[in-house]
Amino acid sequence: MNEIKKIVIFYFSGTGNARQIAVWLSEFAAKKSIDCQIFNIATTDQNTLNSLSKNLLVIIISPVHGFNFPKITLNFIRHFPKGKNRIVLMNTRAGMKIARFVTPGLSGISFMLSSLILRAKGYKIVGQIPFDMPSNWLSIHPALNENTVKFLYKKNYKRVEKHSNKIFSGKSDFLARRDLVQDILISPIAFGYYLVGRFAFAKSFYASVDCDNCGLCVKQCPVKAIKMANERPYWTFQCESCMQCMNICPKKAIETAHGLFVAVSLICSMLTTIILHNILKISIQSLFIKLLIFGLLFFALLWVFYKIQHLLLRNKFIGKIITLASLTHYKFWGRYYLRSKNQRQIKF
Ligand SMILES: Cc1cc2nc3c(=O)[nH]c(=O)nc-3n(C[C@H](O)[C@H](O)[C@H](O)COP(=O)(O)O)c2cc1C
Ligand code: SF4
Ligand code: SF4
Repeated sequence: MNEIKKIVIFYFSGTGNARQIAVWLSEFAAKKSIDCQIFNIATTDQNTLNSLSKNLLVIIISPVHGFNFPKITLNFIRHFPKGKNRIVLMNTRAGMKIARFVTPGLSGISFMLSSLILRAKGYKIVGQIPFDMPSNWLSIHPALNENTVKFLYKKNYKRVEKHSNKIFSGKSDFLARRDLVQDILISPIAFGYYLVGRFAFAKSFYASVDCDNCGLCVKQCPVKAIKMANERPYWTFQCESCMQCMNICPKKAIETAHGLFVAVSLICSMLTTIILHNILKISIQSLFIKLLIFGLLFFALLWVFYKIQHLLLRNKFIGKIITLASLTHYKFWGRYYLRSKNQRQIKF
């Protein structure tokens, strides 16, 4: 077994969880006098990868998005040059708290796909470790409260210590294998999210009338997915739903357009039925065609309606109505608890 002397950590993080794991790892490494460098995938020049020395341990940490790593992480992994390093893959998933227990998130194909890509380039995967950090997916659920976030951080701190001891002593650690069956079962949803779903979620964000056009969200977005259009942030299909912009906006002006999604879904259902029954005269049982028509209509209408919504937001009265139809606007929904005020200023 080879004791580890040098580590390089690459992380991507939307709301700070993956970054926190990277920081804890570097602290535990320092205690063992292991040389450790941390790089943020969003700001790291891909050429850094060409100068990785052969015997250092590489650790990659990223949140799971739709049962897979987000595109920015996968792209980074795809661009690794051929190499022989040992690599530990880690993810942060949607942890929740029930009583004194942490309920786990789902890794899906995040480890399987990235391991395949890296193995094909010659690397040796020596670990796949998930961490159930607080769930940050505010498009679909209310924010966890501060105590729950603190509880989950405390639990994960201990887990990072335990797993770092193992990997720093040169052992392999495949904790993720205990979830293999469920991860394989949900893999079709992972592909669905990656190929289709994430584009719909990209259009779920808008800046309400409370936006003062400060430009922070445009500047901070790790994938430069927000542009200014008519002096208002406009979300493009590049958005990875990392949730950073929504949680750093000083005015709490970034909302999820739940109302828009309900309206577009209802219109698409009606139009799909009309097209199938009255125009194509195909039996409603043909589920594949129904889904295909619904999907095509959904994206076409979402694109158009999103543009219209963007224009209507200029009108204060209509803007207020749009905001009232967004669950994220209400106090009970809240925002993701960013652990330190500094997190609002830094690149995660
Ligand atoms: C768009 C999106 C999709 C997500 N999908 C999953 C998922 O498939 N499985 C899971 O366990 N957690 C999922 N989550 C939760 C995050 O992975 C989790 O909260 C993670 O700790 C966030 O890390 P970060 O703060 O470094 O971005 C999702 C979150 C978002 C925003
Ligand atoms: S950070 Fe908030 S207030 Fe600033 S431009 Fe973005 S949405 Fe508007
Ligand atoms: S637009 Fe917001 S949610 Fe989307 S990738 Fe950028 S910071 Fe993340």
